[in-house]
Amino acid sequence: MQGRAVSSEEGKDLPVANRTNQTKALPLRLLQLFVLFLLVCIAFSGISIYTVRRFGIQSMVTTARSSFQPCYEEANSLDRWIQPPSDLLHNMSDKELFWRATLVPKIKKYPFRRVPKIAFMFLTKGPLPLAPLWERFFKGHEGLYSIYIHSHPSFHAHFHPWSVFNRRQIPSQVSEWGRMSMCDAEKRLLANALLDISNERFILLSESCIPLNNFSLIYHYIMKSGYSFMGAFDDPGPYGRGRYNLNMAPEVNISQWRKGSQWFEINRKLAINIVEDATYHPKFETFCRPACYVDEHYFPTMLTIQAGHLLANRSITWVDWSRGGAHPATFGRSDITEEFLRRISKNHRCTYNKRNSSTCFLFARKFAPSALHPLLELAPKVLGY
Ligand SMILES: *[C@@H]1O[C@H](CO)[C@@H](O)[C@H](O)[C@H]1NC(C)=O
Ligand SMILES: *[C@@H]1O[C@H](CO)[C@@H](O)[C@H](O)[C@H]1NC(C)=O
Ligand SMILES: *[C@@H]1O[C@H](CO)[C@@H](O)[C@H](O)[C@H]1NC(C)=O
Ligand SMILES: *[C@@H]1O[C@H](CO)[C@@H](O)[C@H](O)[C@H]1NC(C)=O
Ligand SMILES: *[C@@H]1O[C@H](CO)[C@@H](O)[C@H](O)[C@H]1NC(C)=O
Repeated sequence: MQGRAVSSEEGKDLPVANRTNQTKALPLRLLQLFVLFLLVCIAFSGISIYTVRRFGIQSMVTTARSSFQPCYEEANSLDRWIQPPSDLLHNMSDKELFWRATLVPKIKKYPFRRVPKIAFMFLTKGPLPLAPLWERFFKGHEGLYSIYIHSHPSFHAHFHPWSVFNRRQIPSQVSEWGRMSMCDAEKRLLANALLDISNERFILLSESCIPLNNFSLIYHYIMKSGYSFMGAFDDPGPYGRGRYNLNMAPEVNISQWRKGSQWFEINRKLAINIVEDATYHPKFETFCRPACYVDEHYFPTMLTIQAGHLLANRSITWVDWSRGGAHPATFGRSDITEEFLRRISKNHRCTYNKRNSSTCFLFARKFAPSALHPLLELAPKVLGY
């Protein structure tokens, strides 16, 4: 517009130039045009610099985009890579998902403020009867956790729209609730949680688990731990080394064979180790069949071989095997007393970052749905939430 105004102003001068001298007029007029053009350029860059200084480059870019590219849809910015997926439902196959989940940046320093989160991964058959207790536990700590649920594919969950569990189901593809498919489901949970670059620690829980402390204590306990809480011990008896199969050599030899609880807590590095594993998976799938239980040996053995120095070799999920038998005790309404909760949450002995500690368990199982009401009643007083 400015350019057009200039040329029409010039047009007025033309007759004057014509009258004086036609041969001299042409270069003079060119010179005048050039000077005017220069002035316009200087004025325009002056205005641009002022606008950029005043309003920042972004507003300039966005106004330019909105005026010149009305069809523009998604910002091709860093956000695309660091924002967690808005919808957990995707149609990636396991193969595609595992590939995507194991992409790791080479530069270790994040170019943005990364608040590390804990991924709470629930491996369940059906509903989450203790959800109201967990809701209370999570309340007020948004941004420090994320939730993932892998339930049996035939189960369709219904949570209130305002529940922290709403729309946190990941696509489950288990065909049978077998032992190896249990490990595959855990792998799938880890892979989905890895898609959020802010998830730093990963906890596997079941529908019968409860937290034993308030969120802040659990968050700091886990984040400040130099070790991952994977139960892994060398049991020389028939239920430990007795389950080892010589066909697993040379990948796994008997001195590396470990046993541990399925309910682990691991960091991002170890989560990637598990998701990318193609070395130990076939060995365990073929040679660890009942009476060898793959969910008790696969991850503890594999991680001991690959990163034993990063393991605390103990679980942070308390469970009661004292009643004997093949299954741990389940606690119902009548078991839940103040004394009982104090006993399981405090005064244990363990090492935490190479020091003696009495806080050893952050979660406990197994609790029946009937335990919910007494737990809700006692939690503020005894468990701190
Ligand atoms: C996933 O969906 C996209 C389109 O929405 C389709 O092109 C792709 O083939 C699908 N992938 C699978 C594995 O179903
Ligand atoms: C969490 O529990 C710890 C120990 O029981 C306590 O010191 C701390 O104040 C509690 N934090 C909150 C936010 O309630
Ligand atoms: C098992 O592997 C470890 C580490 O590679 C090695 O030190 C040990 O000698 C091996 N044991 C046997 C019985 O092969
Ligand atoms: C756990 O066990 C591994 C060997 O299996 C060992 O290297 C590691 O130091 C142990 N972790 C702790 C915290 O003692
Ligand atoms: C830790 O506890 C053990 C006994 O369980 C004891 O022998 C050791 O001296 C304690 N260490 C410290 C630093 O208190």
